[in-house]
This record gives sequence, C-alpha cells and structure tokens, in this order.
Amino acid sequence: MRIDFTGQFILVTGGSRGIGEAIVKTLAGVGATVAIHYHKQAQAAHLLAEAVGNDSKAFQADLSDPKATITLAEQVLSTYDHVHGLVNNAGVAICTEMDQADDARWVDEWQHTMSTNLLASSLLCKKILPSMIQSGGGRLVHIASRAAFRGDTPDYLAYAASKGGMVAMSRSLARGYGKQGIKSFVVAPGFTRTDMAQQFIEDYGESYALNDLALDELTEPKDIAPTVAFLLSGYMDHATGCTIDINAGSYVR
Ligand SMILES: NC(=O)c1ccc[n+]([C@@H]2O[C@H](COP(=O)([O-])OP(=O)(O)OC[C@H]3O[C@@H](n4cnc5c(N)ncnc54)[C@H](OP(=O)(O)O)[C@@H]3O)[C@@H](O)[C@H]2O)c1
Repeated sequence: MRIDFTGQFILVTGGSRGIGEAIVKTLAGVGATVAIHYHKQAQAAHLLAEAVGNDSKAFQADLSDPKATITLAEQVLSTYDHVHGLVNNAGVAICTEMDQADDARWVDEWQHTMSTNLLASSLLCKKILPSMIQSGGGRLVHIASRAAFRGDTPDYLAYAASKGGMVAMSRSLARGYGKQGIKSFVVAPGFTRTDMAQQFIEDYGESYALNDLALDELTEPKDIAPTVAFLLSGYMDHATGCTIDINAGSYVR
C-alpha cells in the first residue's frame, strides 16, 4: 500500500500551527501541494509553505467572517484550479461560562464559536464542492472533537455544539454527494498537546489530563495527521460518513 498525493491540491485550514501544521507536513511529505490557511500566524504559515515545498502556498482569512471565508475559497480555487481535498481543521475553543452575567457577551462568544468552527467549514464546502464534483470528486475531512460525542463541560457548550454540528454536516455531505464523487469524514480528537490545550495543562496540570487516558502519554498532533492522510488517500472511500476517534482511549464508544 502506498499513498502518493503528487499533483493533488489540498486546502488545510488552520495549517499554521498545532494539529493543522502536522497535517500539512504529513500531506506534503507524500507529495501534496497544500494551500495552508492561517489567521494571525502569517510568518509561521509562509515559512511552513516554503519548508514543505511542492508549490504549497499560505492564504490568510479570518474564518469568523463569512465574507473572508468566501474570499479564501475563491483565492484557493483561482490559484490551484482544482481542489482535490479539504481539511476543515481551524477552530477555537472559547469558554462560554453558563454563569456569565453579561448575556450579550455570551451570545457574542457563541456566535464567534459557531461562525469559526461550523459556518466557515460548511461555507468552504459550499464554495469548493462544485469544482470538486466537476473534476470527478474529492474528499473532505472535518476535525471535530471527542466533545461532539462525550459532551464537554457547561463552560464549553458552544464548542461542543459546534463540533456536534460538524459531525451532522459531514454525514449529510457524505450521503448527499456520494454519487457525485464526494467523500466526507470526521476525525474526532481527544485532548491533544497544542496551544489550544495549553491553558488547561497550565490550570490543571498534565497529570490531570493523563488520568483520563487509557494510554500513558498525551496525544500529539503527529498522532492525528496520518489518519487524515489515510482518509484523503482513497483507501477509506467506502467508510464515507464515518468518524475516527483519536483520543488515547479516553472515550471509547
Ligand atoms: N488540541 C485539542 O485538544 C483538540 C481536541 C479536539 C479537537 N481539536 C480540534 O482540532 C483543531 C485544531 O486545533 P489545535 O489544537 O491545533 O488548535 P490551535 O493550536 O489553537 O490552532 C488553531 C488554528 O486555528 C486557526 N484559527 C483560530 N481562530 C481562527 C479564525 N478566527 N479564523 C481562521 N483561523 C483561525 C489558527 O490560526 P493562526 O495560528 O494563524 O491564528 C490556528 O491555525 C480545532 O478545530 C480543534 O477544535 C483540538
């Protein structure tokens, strides 16, 4: 079995760091040309594009803004002509405290979470799917979360809801567009050592996170990326609509 993405163009959102960066490196390592999307980490994204090669390029967009999300899709499509794969990875985990006294702020935090994690992912699918279908099909991978299935704490209601929405979106795309060559998958990581997890580690300590796991070490971005490559490779096409859990045995279902 061999995976070779030479000649394939794949958009990875949030490719500037964390899980997205590991996905970019893995895909480019097996030949893909990667459109590396970033929000604020311009330098990291441009350096990464240069380092991974294959004519990979960096693209900026604030995915909480639907107009910027549409522009991102248009820029990537006009740069690469076809997009064979889309990895909806960018995301935010904002604490939306249930006892937040300021209701307007709570609503803002919910809207920001839903716009960035869910609406942007669906908008990118909407904009990119027609070209994928025209060129014979394509593959979508959505990075959701264990929280979509196990639930999260009440302070992360919006986060869990956005990831649950992503799962429903992926299943609907898989069922709705399968006959047009589109395959759609979810990867649901558990606690993974990135900037997103850092605050939790600082607040509660690494051993607290480790206690939850079946394994004896925290999941790293490099433990997620190969599964994304496999899902995009074609070897998993008949599993379209599925979710792969990668949570070190912390939530087995
Ligand atoms: N780490 C975990 O424990 C964990 C667990 C389950 C699921 N996940 C999911 O895995 C995905 C990647 O998470 P991570 O841990 O790698 O996170 P991270 O290290 O915090 O990186 C987040 C990425 O999203 C981008 N981003 C943030 N806000 C954005 C916005 N408004 N518009 C566009 N891009 C934005 C960032 O871009 P810039 O760097 O350019 O600002 C960055 O590339 C997320 O969807 C997350 O929910 C993570």
